[in-house]
Amino acid sequence: MNYTLAVLPGDGIGPEVTAEGVKVLRAVGARFGHSFTFQEALIGGSAIDATGEPLPAETLASCEAADAVLLGAVGGPKWDDPEARVRPEQGLLGLRKALGLYANLRPVTVHPLLVDASPLRHERLEGVDLLVVRELTGGIYFGEKRRGRDDAGEWASDLCIYSEAEIVRVVRIAAELARMRNGKLTLVDKANVLETSRLWRSVTTRLMQNEYPDVKFDWMLVDACAMHLLRRPSDFDVIVTENMFGDILTDEASMLAGSMGMLPSASLGAGNKGLYEPIHGSAPDIAGQGKANPLATILSVAMLLRHSLGLEREASAVEAAVSATIEAGIVTGDLVRPGQRAASTRAVGDAVVGRL
Ligand code: IPM
Ligand code: MG
Repeated sequence: MNYTLAVLPGDGIGPEVTAEGVKVLRAVGARFGHSFTFQEALIGGSAIDATGEPLPAETLASCEAADAVLLGAVGGPKWDDPEARVRPEQGLLGLRKALGLYANLRPVTVHPLLVDASPLRHERLEGVDLLVVRELTGGIYFGEKRRGRDDAGEWASDLCIYSEAEIVRVVRIAAELARMRNGKLTLVDKANVLETSRLWRSVTTRLMQNEYPDVKFDWMLVDACAMHLLRRPSDFDVIVTENMFGDILTDEASMLAGSMGMLPSASLGAGNKGLYEPIHGSAPDIAGQGKANPLATILSVAMLLRHSLGLEREASAVEAAVSATIEAGIVTGDLVRPGQRAASTRAVGDAVVGRL
């Protein structure tokens, strides 16, 4: 089978890590008899520099025509001026919205050999296997933004708005995934303060009672969740939450896995098309030095194979090759243990390919 994939390297370490993702895909193609056509396109700061826009029309067209999209990262100090007309992040947010990718899956597991890389104590990390399903195209990220000035000086506002339909569709995905895992779903909200959270609470409770009575459902306030993710992370199975809470909690949860460089993500919508990217950012401080951990991107490639192309065997093979690479001690600086030498981005990618 031939698949067309859009590849958006983006900024900072984005090009380095996506190169390793593409390398792994080529190897999967050779090993399992698939062919991939890669369409590279601009996004983020590099797109602003080249075209003035963070999401050029050509890039969107490539993504629309592709079976799936692999993305590196966007952003960097060069484009950080708060007064700038356009920002790299608008490219990513615009792409998620334009492709209708409302459900962002962020799995968190802990490889036994990486427990030392986590700031948490060993015993807390035992049995951690959770999945955050983050709503991705609504809420405060996409509500009306305003700026003004009055007698008290300047003011600004970001509107947070959710509709029942937006909540139902993403909770359904989370509940279906919970059924395929350990059968537990936790809604994370701030229903003691926010009206949007109260809507999430009532809509989700009703949906779970009516359609998923077999899934064990509970809810938790976001501040308490931030604490419990450190205190008893292995109690969670699937967490479903709104856009901004999901953004914040998954950076926190990445520390369970030892490094931001380990967490992949899949953004899905109504069809099979998805956007796959590591949850980490563009890490401008280490860009271009071969220090970036490519495993989050390579694990995102596994999610791409599984969720957009339906290639479960190939996805599992990539995940097994990643584990074998970690077991061989071939890891980047973020994961090295005392006495171990850090491998380069490329060496880690080669090691995964060699173990496929
Ligand atoms: C993420 C990132 C993005 C987000 C930024 C780059 C806009 O932090 O994917 O978690 O906030 O969604
Ligand atoms: Mg984030």
